Parts: sequence; C-alpha cells; structure tokens
Amino acid sequence: MSDGLENVVAAETVLSDVDGLAGRLVIRGLPLPALAGRVPYEAALALLWDGFFPDLPDDLAPALGAARRDVFDQLAPHLAAAADLPVFDGVRTLVSRMEDGTSLEAALRLVAAPAVAVASLLARRKGLAVRAPDATLGQAADILRMANGAVTDEQALGLDSYLVAVIDHGLNASTFAARVVASTQAGLGSSVLAALGALKGPLHGGAPGPVLDMLDAIGTPGNAASWIAAELTRGERLMGFGHRIYRVRDPRADALNAAIGRLRASGAVDAARMDLAATVETTALAALARHKPDRPLQTNVEFYTALLLEALGFPRDSFTAVFAAGRVGGWIAHAREQAASGRLIRPKSRYIGPVPREAA
Ligand code: COA
Repeated sequence: MSDGLENVVAAETVLSDVDGLAGRLVIRGLPLPALAGRVPYEAALALLWDGFFPDLPDDLAPALGAARRDVFDQLAPHLAAAADLPVFDGVRTLVSRMEDGTSLEAALRLVAAPAVAVASLLARRKGLAVRAPDATLGQAADILRMANGAVTDEQALGLDSYLVAVIDHGLNASTFAARVVASTQAGLGSSVLAALGALKGPLHGGAPGPVLDMLDAIGTPGNAASWIAAELTRGERLMGFGHRIYRVRDPRADALNAAIGRLRASGAVDAARMDLAATVETTALAALARHKPDRPLQTNVEFYTALLLEALGFPRDSFTAVFAAGRVGGWIAHAREQAASGRLIRPKSRYIGPVPREAA
C-alpha cells in the first residue's frame, strides 16, 4: 500500500516527464524553455496530440478558432445561469454541455470550452459586452480580448507563455483522474470533467491567489522580513514556495518570470507590485533556507502564476479556471493515450473494517 500512490508508476507516457531533482520538464522530447514564450498554445497542443488523432492538421489554429465560435454559440444561452456560480463552478457547468465524443472535433471543442467560458463569465462580471470569439486570433489573444475587451501583443504573449507552461506536467492528480475515466472508454468530455473536479482542490490547482493574499498582507517591501519571520515562527507555510516533486527551482517559474519581464518592459505591469514581489521572494528564500536547512524549498509555479495572471487583468478567483484552459490540452492527450493503450485502471484496496461474524 502506498498512501497517495507516492512512487507508484501507474502509466507509461510519451507526453511529458518531470525531473524534480534536475528541475526539468520535458514535453514530447522538448525542454519547457524551448516551448514557453516561443511557440503559441496551438503549436504546443499539436505537439502533444501528434499521433493521437488520425486527422490532426499541421496548424491547429484555424480549427481551434472555429471551435471557439461553435462553442460560444452553444454556450451563450447558458452564460447567465452559470454567472451565478463561483467562476470555476460556472466554467465546469458550461464545459459539461460539451459532447462526450472521441473525435478531433470533440477534442477541440473541449479545449475551446474552458477558454470561452472563463472569458465570457469574466466579461459579464465586469459589465462588458460579451463578445463572440474571433477565430482569426490565437487562443491566448482571444481569451484576453473576450475577457477584457482589448488585448495587446505583449499581453497575448504573456498568456500564451502561461498556457504553454502549464499544458502538461506528468501524472498530476487531475491528469490521473482524466486517465482513470479514459481507461473505462468513456468519452473525452467525461475525462475532462473528472480532471476539472480534481484540479479545483486547494492541494492541486485550487488555491485561489494565496500568493496575492500574502503580498497584500505584507503591503510594502520594508515589511517583508518581519512578516515572513512571524509567519514561519507561527508554523505557517509561505505561499508560492516548496513542491512535492521539485527539489530545485520549478522550471515553469522561470518561464513565467520571463513572461512577466517582457510585460514589464512594455510598461504593462504595476512596477511597485513587482518590486514588492521581488523583495518578498528573496526574503522568503533566505528565511526558508534558515528555517528548514535540510529541506530545499524553492519558488514554485504558483508564485509567478499569481503575478502574471494579475498583471494580465484576471481576478484571483479565476486563476484556477485559466489554469484549466491550459491544462485541458494535456488532459485530452493523456486520455487518448490511456484509451488507446491502457487497461482499465482498477487498483485494489485493503479491507481494514470489522471481521464478518459467522452467520448464526
Ligand atoms: N513554507 C514553509 N514551510 C514549508 C513550505 C513553505 N512553503 N513548504 C514546505 N515546508 C516545510 C513543511 O512545513 C515541512 O516541515 P516539517 O517537516 O517540519 O513538517 C517540510 O517543509 C516538508 O513539507 P512537506 O509538506 O512534506 O513538503 P511537500 O514537498 O510534500 O509539500 C507543498 C509541497 C507544495 C504542499 C508545500 O511546499 C506547501 O504547502 N507550499 C505552500 C503552498 C503552495 O505554494 N502551493 C502551491 C504548490 S504548486
């Protein structure tokens, strides 16, 4: 028995490899720095899906753009009801309206759905007109245009870098959930819904903006050292640091930091916020090294995710839904891989309940 299935290998995959000691994430043979900030989400998707759909075109952008438009037409009448729910639940509810198929078309609609849903729900909440997708734009640019009413090239590149950086990450909890469902030969929609459920939890993708809560609580760079020391003395964990697998810096943190740097150069970020974050990061790393000298605790992906998504105008309660809009590509690739080659996933449990009494 391995609690949490730690160190259990439950699948063979050609999709991605997480090396926690080297701090390396490889996606289909390419290290993350070769992808994030360099290729659009559609290209990363085509790379992941290569070999898993017989009719995969070289350029997925036009088909994904068309899928966004179809999905919008299908979802528009249901936006008002979903808007009454917390953002993530609203997105999950809207995604559940997608067809539960296995075709490339069904897969593209499932990738389009979280993007269209979160962007439309955010626009509604801001009191903006809900805009139909623009099929000629890339997925990242279109999400921002729909959510905020306008988008710059730098912002689109920033979100594209994020969506690519989180597209796949080994057998994490939501991806495993997707594979379990796919192993029953249910459709891709069922796999994606299971994965959304797993992603929501605060131990996976669902700690909504805790890094920003920490920055708000610290307030100014001068308060960082005393606030962090007090927090550690109280036995609290610093948000945005530490990881179950990485013992060195999370490579996705660097990819996102580079995206923030590009945005900053274009003047699109709050410089004071970034200076505060930089001081908090350095102070926290030094404090953690003193606090847990035997445990390498480094900056994780959440720290820079929070900064980047905030700079792009996303409210903190939508971060998990934006994460889903990127990770959905990985879920679908894993579901296809599992359904094609995997057996039904059906582990055993060890019974520790009362011994049955003999029948009288
Ligand atoms: N701040 C302070 N102490 C931390 C810490 C953090 N961010 N992360 C781990 N530690 C400490 C733990 O308290 C524990 O101390 P103990 O041995 O005295 O109990 C020790 O380091 C090992 O912690 P453990 O929970 O076993 O590490 P893990 O690698 O299994 O946990 C996380 C990984 C992500 C759950 C953990 O680092 C964490 O809670 N981080 C903060 C939340 C966060 O950023 N989440 C987003 C993750 S991407």
